[in-house]
Amino acid sequence: MSTSGKHDTASMVAANAGKDPKDRVLIFDTTLRDGEQSPGAAMTMEDKLRVAELLDEMGVDIIEAGFPISSNGDFEAVSEIAKLVKNAVVCGLSRSSFADIDRAGEAVRHAVKPRIHTFISTSPVHRKWKLQMDADQVVAAVGASVARARSYTDNVEWSAEDATRTERDVLLRCCEIAIKQGATTINIPDTVGYSVPEEYYELIKMLRETVPGGDKVVWSTHCHNDLGMAVANSLAGVRAGARQIECTINGLGERAGNAALEEVVMAMKVRGDILPYWTEVDSTKFTRASKLVAAVSAFPVQYNKAVVGRNAFAHESGIHQDGMLKNVETYEIMKPETVGLSKSTLSLGKLSGRAAFKDKLKQLGYELGDNAFQDAFRRFKDLADKKKLVFDEDIEALVDQEVATQYDRIKLVGLSVSAGTGAPPKASVTLEVDGVQTSKDASGDGPVDSIFKAIKAIVPHEARLPLYQVMAVTEGTDAQAEVMVRLEENGKEVTGRGADTDTMVASARAYVTALNKLLMKRQRGPNAQAMAS
Ligand code: KIV
Ligand code: ZN
Repeated sequence: MSTSGKHDTASMVAANAGKDPKDRVLIFDTTLRDGEQSPGAAMTMEDKLRVAELLDEMGVDIIEAGFPISSNGDFEAVSEIAKLVKNAVVCGLSRSSFADIDRAGEAVRHAVKPRIHTFISTSPVHRKWKLQMDADQVVAAVGASVARARSYTDNVEWSAEDATRTERDVLLRCCEIAIKQGATTINIPDTVGYSVPEEYYELIKMLRETVPGGDKVVWSTHCHNDLGMAVANSLAGVRAGARQIECTINGLGERAGNAALEEVVMAMKVRGDILPYWTEVDSTKFTRASKLVAAVSAFPVQYNKAVVGRNAFAHESGIHQDGMLKNVETYEIMKPETVGLSKSTLSLGKLSGRAAFKDKLKQLGYELGDNAFQDAFRRFKDLADKKKLVFDEDIEALVDQEVATQYDRIKLVGLSVSAGTGAPPKASVTLEVDGVQTSKDASGDGPVDSIFKAIKAIVPHEARLPLYQVMAVTEGTDAQAEVMVRLEENGKEVTGRGADTDTMVASARAYVTALNKLLMKRQRGPNAQAMAS
């Protein structure tokens, strides 16, 4: 299954013609590793393959596909992505132990361009409390781990976890030995998002100029967003000579997230006058990628998020609209088309047939297998019956849901709800669990609570519900509702998303999706989150 058109290599080459190769910045996407570590953002194998395929088509240079030792599921996802990806380097993360490195080496073995990314914490607080190792022991582990990784591939990245809070002399020694043992990329993470641009600039500059062999490797940034400076710090790193940025779609990542891929790329594109750097990434795929990642991770994109937020190109106030009508440059610093945004277009109607629907899916960047296509078409017909105007966003919401749930163990088969004044709310739910259908009724504090109770009666579990959120996909009272549900069980969080014109059906779908992810998480065993930050 493919999610989008081919990476338009020819036009990227043309757009970058004449640019200085020394100003080329490699884009290292870690949505599938650091992004997926966000509490609740677990993705299925199929989700990960779709994201990886789109990243590859977008022209991302390196895809960090996962953390193979963390679980069998992660190992398999990295191996499958390694087999699927055609252009990008595929990278697996490992700590410094040989068992970790061997597992990562095994997982990326089939990649056209494999990379092992090995890391260890270097800061005093991590050395003391996480590793119980002194600085000399850490330096020795760096050398041994890089040498081990080099026995699998000559493309080895080494990272100093919590680099920005590490004593400079210790960091210098670690970088030196990593380079001596053959690391080709040295990554300087601001793991806890503590740095500020001037400081991060000085750090990268000092390392590049001081570490023996520093001119032979690619220096890389990896900035977290705890103080809202991940993008600014990454760009400061580039100005200081780093030529790889580690980032995620939508800035997905633990706590406040990672540097957002679409923001760093657009900053270099729009402000080439003071950031004269370039990438091979096709920015017209950003809107699609943002929606896909939001759908599969069930992490909604903040409305006013830079570049891909719903309001990023909206002009509401009279003064702004007046200016825009006279000349778009009054308030627009980049064209919506450059990030793949087109105006809400009326899509298809209830008389549209399979061929038109297939064609529309193709335009929107989807190619579905036969079963997924038939199911999506059926749901589209239902939607067109209920909703007068079907927009492209409606089709995207519908297909994203169809694809994300096609391998689920629990499926919503039927739902009826009664609520209102006078009688207690009641829900009747029918689910198919591993092929067997069961129905239950329940009453609760309102219709949504009743639905969730009925689902719980069919699939008993102890998960808490820390989040229930409803949004509209498009405008109008007949808009599809998009519901997010987060469940938490034994410290593991999962998020589910559901869309439907009926908010109750969307709620049931979201809850069922979250339950499916919980089952998947239970099977996966220890989660990566406990193992890397
Ligand atoms: O934030 C961090 O330090 C990391 C490393 C594992 C690269 O994600
Ligand atoms: Zn990180």
